[in-house]
Amino acid sequence: MTVLPNSVHARDIESLVHPQTNLAKHREVGPMVVTHGEGIKVYDDGGRDYIESVSGLWCASLGFAQERLARVAYEQMRTLGYYHSFRHRSNEPNVDLAEKLLSIAPVPMSKVLFQCSGSEANDTAIKLIWYYHNAIGKPEKRKIIARNMGYHGSTVAAVSLSGKPDMHADFGLPFEAFRHTEFPHYYRRHYAGESEEAFATRMAVALEELILEEGPETVAGFFAEPVMGAGGAVLPPATYFEKIQQVLRKYEVLFVADEVICGFGRTGEMWGSQTFAIEPDMVTSAKALSAAMQPISALMINEKIYQAMLQQSEKLGPFAHGFTYAGHPVTSAVALEVIRIYEEMDIVSHVKSISPTFMNALEQHVDHPLIGNIRGVGLICGIELMRDGEARIPFQSELNVSGRFHENALNNGLIPRVVGDRLVFAPPLVITENEIAEMSDRFGRALDETWSEIG
Ligand SMILES: Cc1ncc(COP(=O)(O)O)c(C=O)c1O
Repeated sequence: MTVLPNSVHARDIESLVHPQTNLAKHREVGPMVVTHGEGIKVYDDGGRDYIESVSGLWCASLGFAQERLARVAYEQMRTLGYYHSFRHRSNEPNVDLAEKLLSIAPVPMSKVLFQCSGSEANDTAIKLIWYYHNAIGKPEKRKIIARNMGYHGSTVAAVSLSGKPDMHADFGLPFEAFRHTEFPHYYRRHYAGESEEAFATRMAVALEELILEEGPETVAGFFAEPVMGAGGAVLPPATYFEKIQQVLRKYEVLFVADEVICGFGRTGEMWGSQTFAIEPDMVTSAKALSAAMQPISALMINEKIYQAMLQQSEKLGPFAHGFTYAGHPVTSAVALEVIRIYEEMDIVSHVKSISPTFMNALEQHVDHPLIGNIRGVGLICGIELMRDGEARIPFQSELNVSGRFHENALNNGLIPRVVGDRLVFAPPLVITENEIAEMSDRFGRALDETWSEIG
């Protein structure tokens, strides 16, 4: 693309640093400028439409423009456009939203803490794991375990939790207290002939070995996404969470379910924890909580943790943590309205009923010579590109198959999400059958063009 002088593209290059973007390449190619959205599509400044196959960043669950939510934000800004919740202050939308979340929590939860992002919710959960263990007289329990290729955010603690080496490189991270256990990617990592259950057992044994190696008296918490998102939409193998939770209980390790992607219907239940029988001590959520229309995240904690925090207040005084915009009345009012919309449209039933159409549409490409494996649940699916799917032989990296696919998808009006050699789909939850068919057509054309370039 030619970058014209004084265009928004040129001004972008001179004024912005983009997250997760090759900065040198950006100077050559410039940005894709998105001007507006409608339903599951966004439009660029050339007027071209794109189906958003991953809801922006797994978040725009109701699509890209919403009059009803705009009105709620407008009205709330006219009445109380800001107030905080420090030092005993409150506002009604905040309380209403907390009550609503507690009423739909996957397991009994006691209280809610609001933040503005998934990273902050996970950071807060990390701090509470430490605070809790201090409160119960086990200050040596400090270490936190998450999974290789897990993703939990970009702040210094949340990225330490994340198991993505590219996000640690040259930042001097992860921090000392963080450890990572096996990436439970069955298709890629199982031994020949190993069943999913046997693979899950191996994952749980690896976790137990890590805890024993570190010393169980030093291990405080474990984080997991029910379906791993940025790691490539990787589903847990059968029996995985059952076995992992046995290990965590044995060594009194708190479990935080990172529901930032899975929460609010993505997996065909309200929570991924329900889909995979997870019983967490804390739940973090964001993204679809406000359908991405406002920056808000929620951390739910159980009664055990709340009781420990109460004790701390007696010892230390005020709970010494908080963010200026936590419990913001506008973000809470919008999130509350989003949950009302989910209830009106019965989002869980909708995802359950449309999921087979979504999976069939993607699975019809399973014999394509680029594809090795397809696996999904609800409205989230990961597709592995493989030279030989059966023998699990990847394409040579010089072929740049996923990079080529990315370009071809864009040229066919599909914004894809590529994670290494995996393609990920998580479209807005409001996607219809016709839109799924259109998405699948565009996907098929991008696959064919990619194959014809390298085949
Ligand atoms: C599972 C998960 N947790 C946490 C985060 C971080 O959320 P945020 O970008 O809002 O900080 C993300 C972001 O993609 C995520 O996918």
